Amino acid sequence: MRIAVLTVSDRAAQGAYEDESGPVLMALIEEHFHQLTDLYHICPDDWREIKRALEKWCDDARMDLILTTGGTGFAPRDVTPEATRAVIEREAPGLVHAMLAASLEKTPHAMLSRAAAGIRGNTLIVNLPGSPRAARENFLAILPALPHALELLRGAGADAHALEHPIDAAERERQERDISD
Ligand code: MTE
Repeated sequence: MRIAVLTVSDRAAQGAYEDESGPVLMALIEEHFHQLTDLYHICPDDWREIKRALEKWCDDARMDLILTTGGTGFAPRDVTPEATRAVIEREAPGLVHAMLAASLEKTPHAMLSRAAAGIRGNTLIVNLPGSPRAARENFLAILPALPHALELLRGAGADAHALEHPIDAAERERQERDISD
């Protein structure tokens, strides 16, 4: 299993504060997946930088799972979900629902996370909130389904990177129909 953790935080990226959520997630990965995190990076709350990191980790590094932490809230620079949605090809709303349901049991502020989750190629990307406690609680909410999710993504036998995106396929069919009409 190839797992990556991306901390999204202006202050942590500047070195103004030490990232705590990334290490919390890496410890949880070690505890529950019995392995080390393959890639870890801190990037600022910059839409382009987040998107670039996610694309590289999906397409070049071929991660199975990317967990992001931070930038899911309502602050003007919170754009992790937008960068994630720009990268994913298929959404995974069930994971988002599970995180929200579990988190609402803990705090009404759970409503303020706009986290996204989805699949690009064979990679699952999940946004987690930024505080160490919130990152941990949200990770534990989806943990029961993660091994099966990753098994399905890897076990398909097909390399999803080589498959045509469903939207591209629909567009190609439409164009072919237009030409033949
Ligand atoms: N979810 C859980 N389980 N526990 C929490 O403490 N904090 C919330 C929410 N989700 C929280 C939580 C708060 S206060 C915010 S602002 C949002 O996540 C977004 O956090 P982020 O902007 O750091 O990503």
